[in-house]
Amino acid sequence: LTRTPLIAGNWKMNLDHLQAIAFVQKLAWSLDDAKHDFDAVEVAVFPPFTDLRSVQTLVSADKLSLAYGGQDISQHESGAYTGEISGAFLAQLDTKYVIIGHSERRTLHGETDEIVAAKTKAAIGHGIVPIVCVGETSDDLEKFGPSAVPVAQLKVALEGLKPGADMVVAYEPVWAIGSGQAATPEQAQTVCAALRAVVSEALGADAAAATRILYGGSVKSGNIAGFMREPDVDGALVGGASLDVAEFAAIVRYQ
Ligand code: G3H
Repeated sequence: LTRTPLIAGNWKMNLDHLQAIAFVQKLAWSLDDAKHDFDAVEVAVFPPFTDLRSVQTLVSADKLSLAYGGQDISQHESGAYTGEISGAFLAQLDTKYVIIGHSERRTLHGETDEIVAAKTKAAIGHGIVPIVCVGETSDDLEKFGPSAVPVAQLKVALEGLKPGADMVVAYEPVWAIGSGQAATPEQAQTVCAALRAVVSEALGADAAAATRILYGGSVKSGNIAGFMREPDVDGALVGGASLDVAEFAAIVRYQ
């Protein structure tokens, strides 16, 4: 089984809906000029919620092959949850993916492994592919070694899931996010292989073979190829470098 690589750009709290339109148009032109094969390497952007309707309109009007998704999802369906966005709303905007449990949500918004698990179920329930983020801090790395914390986080996130749903895992060492100090491809491979073993244990060998596992943390055009050569790294979740069209397009065109 071959897994289609995924290059995902997490814009975080950057680019308003007007900037989003300009960005997506430029990215589409750039990849079009380069004759990018979207079936060979899938590309997705993750704009702020307020941009999603504009991105949907542009993508559908211009029939772009670009996927997009939300940066978070509520574990609830609807109701008195001020500030939350439900999976139903995201699905209505044709969002293919949703990022869940990013370290910034875990650290700044108190998201626990249990909340991440509930959000993962909510996404799958709405037919949205979850990108479940896990990763260790530098303290964790020192105390427990490379894989222990991400493995423990993923085990909880997968509890109660049934095999069959499309799912993506993103390994993002917290110490590598926005630091300019990426993990080495070998470090990424070690943890991504351990995470694939977790998927296998929880959901079976077929699910493990089908699940894409991304690396994230200071990915740029100059280091992407090294990660993509690793057998268990199936793409990248890119933050800062996804905000520059030329740089992001170069990451997408890593081959
Ligand atoms: O979601 C993306 C990650 O947080 C990586 O961010 O590429 O700016 O290090 P970065």
